[in-house]
Amino acid sequence: MPSYFQAAGLLALTASAFAAPAPQATTDAPAATATAAPAPPVVSSQVTGPTSHGPYSGQPTTTGALSNTVLAASIPALPPNPTATTYLANGELQDPQPAPYTPAGGLGTNGTEPVYNVKSDFDYQSFALALYQEWIELDLFHHGLATFSAEEFEAAGLTAEDRYLIQFMADQEVGHSTLLTNIIGESAPVQCTYNYPFTTVREFLDFCQKLTRFGESGVYGFLEHLDSRESATLLLQSITTEARQQLIFRQFDGIFPMPVWFEVGVPQSWAWTLLAPYISECPANQTRLAWQNFPALAILNQPNPARLDARQTGINETIDTGMNTLNSTVVPPEEACFDADDELADCNPRISQNRTIPLSYPGRQVYFSWETPGRPVGPNNSYITSTTAGAPKFVLWASQLNVTYSPLTNVSGTTGMTVQPDVSTFEGDPAVNGTMFVVLTDLDLYVTPFNISQVNPHVVAGPALYQAG
Ligand SMILES: *[C@@H]1O[C@H](CO)[C@@H](O)[C@H](O)[C@H]1NC(C)=O
Ligand SMILES: *[C@@H]1O[C@H](CO)[C@@H](O)[C@H](O)[C@H]1NC(C)=O
Ligand SMILES: *[C@@H]1O[C@H](CO)[C@@H](O)[C@H](O)[C@H]1NC(C)=O
Ligand SMILES: *[C@@H]1O[C@H](CO)[C@@H](O)[C@H](O)[C@H]1NC(C)=O
Ligand SMILES: *[C@@H]1O[C@H](CO)[C@@H](O)[C@H](O)[C@H]1NC(C)=O
Ligand SMILES: *[C@@H]1O[C@H](CO)[C@@H](O)[C@H](O)[C@H]1NC(C)=O
Ligand SMILES: *[C@@H]1O[C@H](CO)[C@@H](O)[C@H](O)[C@H]1NC(C)=O
Ligand SMILES: *[C@@H]1O[C@H](CO)[C@@H](O)[C@H](O)[C@H]1NC(C)=O
Ligand SMILES: *[C@@H]1O[C@H](CO)[C@@H](O)[C@H](O)[C@H]1NC(C)=O
Ligand SMILES: *[C@@H]1O[C@H](CO)[C@@H](O)[C@H](O)[C@H]1NC(C)=O
Repeated sequence: MPSYFQAAGLLALTASAFAAPAPQATTDAPAATATAAPAPPVVSSQVTGPTSHGPYSGQPTTTGALSNTVLAASIPALPPNPTATTYLANGELQDPQPAPYTPAGGLGTNGTEPVYNVKSDFDYQSFALALYQEWIELDLFHHGLATFSAEEFEAAGLTAEDRYLIQFMADQEVGHSTLLTNIIGESAPVQCTYNYPFTTVREFLDFCQKLTRFGESGVYGFLEHLDSRESATLLLQSITTEARQQLIFRQFDGIFPMPVWFEVGVPQSWAWTLLAPYISECPANQTRLAWQNFPALAILNQPNPARLDARQTGINETIDTGMNTLNSTVVPPEEACFDADDELADCNPRISQNRTIPLSYPGRQVYFSWETPGRPVGPNNSYITSTTAGAPKFVLWASQLNVTYSPLTNVSGTTGMTVQPDVSTFEGDPAVNGTMFVVLTDLDLYVTPFNISQVNPHVVAGPALYQAG
């Protein structure tokens, strides 16, 4: 059977034969002493991806997350490893050095040849999720450029040079999709058809800013747990690029580029819950995921970054649940910040933007509405939202290094409210800021960045992305 990679390589080489010639080296460059090897082909030579978009209307051929024998309802909490605190951190070398200038210890440092593959179900499913994410970004960035005219981008403050940056970000996704496909192997998920809610450039930018937030944070949640240290290295080198994309989309969105000292990591099922609703259908035999789709969570008074004063945000100024992307047309012109006369209050694309009136603040009342489980979502409507939690009692705020809970009050059916907590990660660094995650839970379980996924059995709905800054 011909390998998938040979086939993909052949396609890519054929395509590149018709591509524009590569830039020539300038004449004063030193003479090349080695013949350049051909660059490895990419999986998507068709950089625009599937061009059809829209909802799915068919019947799923299968439903539910991938699963087999499930051994227990949750992972029990255990005490720390007995050797976790035995290293003497006094600045001296404690063990003989394996080689000059080489302190003892580390993982994958003993000379064993690295093998860049997936080494467990955890690795496979995590990389497959990350690949679903890279594919949608590849489609999304191209789709935005194809959907809105140059005039519409100009009117939103983005020049031809800015649009080329979005184009380049799409090209980066070609590389990321290729890398992850190569690591996973023949059964790697392929690109799907997507359905987006945005209708304006500003909504597109806010959607990208939010989608790349969980793309980035979704990987930070599992990178440190991968069995394959080798593949983790390459994924890290992709996700740091994605982190730059997130920052740039914040700049395009006219919000402060990085209002936090640390970027949060979240569990895979949170990223999948946020991502799946935008995938309308995938080709037959698409590799399925084992992660959970939680019921959707809407923030009814999500701070609207298109407003001069986000405190005036009304109910449902969003175009979707989950991501809770801003609605730009709901804001009356006199209340909108784009092109505002006050330089400090405007929200035009800029390297940095002070918002005189912050988008949110501790003590703010935040209203929610959530779905009940059992709703079909995701590719071909073939995943079903679920929860194992009881009644919602808390709002979990995941931002920077912290997971903080506030009580959910005034619950009526599937609506309720809470008050934005006042916590700092470190002195001078309010924890709740930026584009961050909120989840409804039935318990205020204590979790920290390395064991945050332990809270999943207690998630009632969410996450939603809260626009805290
Ligand atoms: C080197 O380290 C790996 C784990 O990183 C381990 O599996 C292997 O046994 C070690 N090899 C030697 C020769 O110690
Ligand atoms: C999803 O639906 C499309 C269109 O009906 C179909 O071609 C495809 O095989 C379906 N994919 C899966 C994984 O069932
Ligand atoms: C899906 O997989 C089955 C079983 O391997 C195969 O018979 C079928 O041709 C595949 N369908 C597509 C569209 O690749
Ligand atoms: C807001 O959206 C929710 C669903 O997300 C809906 O139930 C509610 O009626 C909407 N409220 C208003 C005032 O439009
Ligand atoms: C934004 O809100 C306006 C006014 O409620 C509504 O007409 C429009 O459909 C909304 N936009 C989207 C993309 O949902
Ligand atoms: C920007 O905001 C910071 C923090 O609120 C403030 O210290 C600074 O003076 C502001 N800069 C300008 C130019 O307003
Ligand atoms: C978030 O950070 C921005 C920029 O530093 C600051 O102006 C704003 O007040 C912060 N928001 C909160 C809720 O602390
Ligand atoms: C929440 O409920 C309490 C009493 O049940 C009521 O006094 C309060 O006004 C409610 N708050 C909001 C914001 O609806
Ligand atoms: C937030 O995280 C920091 C760093 O881990 C920790 O020192 C602090 O106690 C946490 N704060 C809360 C309220 O959990
Ligand atoms: C998560 O880790 C913290 C230590 O950082 C520990 O105190 C807590 O009990 C753990 N939570 C669970 C649910 O295992």
